[in-house]
Amino acid sequence: MKLRKGKSKDKAFITQAAYEFQKFGPYHEIIPRWFDDPWIQTFILELERPVGFIMLGPMFTSFWQPTIDVTAIYVVPEYRKKGLGTFLLKAAEKFSRKEGYRYLRAHVGFENKKALALFKKADFVIKKKIDNYYPSGLGAYELRKDLRRKEEGNET
Ligand SMILES: CC(C)(COP(=O)(O)OP(=O)(O)OC[C@H]1O[C@@H](n2cnc3c(N)ncnc32)[C@H](O)[C@@H]1OP(=O)(O)O)[C@@H](O)C(=O)NCCC(=O)NCCS
Repeated sequence: MKLRKGKSKDKAFITQAAYEFQKFGPYHEIIPRWFDDPWIQTFILELERPVGFIMLGPMFTSFWQPTIDVTAIYVVPEYRKKGLGTFLLKAAEKFSRKEGYRYLRAHVGFENKKALALFKKADFVIKKKIDNYYPSGLGAYELRKDLRRKEEGNET
């Protein structure tokens, strides 16, 4: 298993995966745009082929702040529930800590039970409940992890 930075050849994989996020809005366009955004870093998880990715970067502003966002995390359906999502999040934590960020943040749709369970298991805590967060009108929880609290994780 290999984790590497995204390259232009990964664009087709990212674009195809992005269709799964369509219920939240036009993410089949937004996610490929994030892939091209120099402020957003994409890491690809590869076995014999790409099987997942995580995107990290500032969601709301482009100037430096103590918080970095998981803008997207994805594992191909046939490789889910095998710990790969957790692996991607752990790698994101390591990268963000190294880059000097204090908080890792994510927004997860109210009804996205799998993703909520993934982040909670990784010791993210719910900070806000935001109605109408997505372009589709669906709401999201804002979750955050304090990267300085390495072992205990939870703040609340
Ligand atoms: C969310 C996603 C990345 C999880 O990836 P994954 O590789 O399956 O995650 P893991 O195997 O590391 O699972 C971690 C934990 O998440 C939870 N989880 C994952 N899939 C679940 C499911 N189908 N049902 C319930 N809980 C689930 C469990 O708590 C699991 O821990 P456990 O296996 O010890 O029970 C994957 O389902 C996905 O790509 N979904 C579509 C895209 C998406 O919704 N992304 C998140 C947008 S914010």
